[in-house]
Amino acid sequence: MIVHPAIVKYLQEISEPVHPVLQEMEALATEKSFPIMGPLVGRLLYFLVEFGHIHHILECGSGFGYSALWMALALPENGNITCIESDPQNIELAKSFFEQAGQLHKVTFIENDALAVLKSLSGTYDMIVNDIHKEQYPDILPLILPRLRVGGILVTDNLLWKGEVANPNSTDSKVPFIKKYNSLLFNTPELFSTILPLRDGVGLSIKLQLKSE
Ligand SMILES: C[S@@+](CC[C@H](N)C(=O)[O-])C[C@H]1O[C@@H](n2cnc3c(N)ncnc32)[C@H](O)[C@@H]1O
Repeated sequence: MIVHPAIVKYLQEISEPVHPVLQEMEALATEKSFPIMGPLVGRLLYFLVEFGHIHHILECGSGFGYSALWMALALPENGNITCIESDPQNIELAKSFFEQAGQLHKVTFIENDALAVLKSLSGTYDMIVNDIHKEQYPDILPLILPRLRVGGILVTDNLLWKGEVANPNSTDSKVPFIKKYNSLLFNTPELFSTILPLRDGVGLSIKLQLKSE
């Protein structure tokens, strides 16, 4: 854990749960040891959607819909979120949670590999969330960029990978892919990026209008 456990506990204690279905999903994630972004990052996603007056969101790697539900709850009634997820069982679970929370009308699920889907999509989104297999991070970034509108936000999870990205002796096989992705985020002229050391490291990137455009 990157953030001191006592700080995490304190932050979780002072922030009210936003919806009971989210708490149900947190319990399921704990029971199944399924990696979700958790309530502190969920609250950040909610904040970004509200702050940015976001309407159109794309999530790559939506699991059973936990992070997506946080964003959907912050979306206006005419907003929408498209969730790409390769595991059909996760999509079925996500549908039932979205229905329970009264948010099914805001979501579209696509069951496929996110890289393949991105190659076929057109148009742009106000916000894109990337939480797919870490080994695929460097390959997905060039596919995400054309789908993000200028001024839009890219959010990427796990960019500090339990702190392993800062360990020069790390033997974790995912670390080189995450480090390459981080380097791309900070060296792509169209992006201005930062990484918040919250939970496992959350990347925030804004797409810039290049001066020469
Ligand atoms: C970490 S979990 C997502 C958790 C979710 N974002 C949340 O916080 O609630 C990653 C999910 O991405 C899916 N996934 C991984 N690589 C993918 C890919 N290339 N295309 C589509 N889905 C992918 C996995 O099946 C898994 O459900």
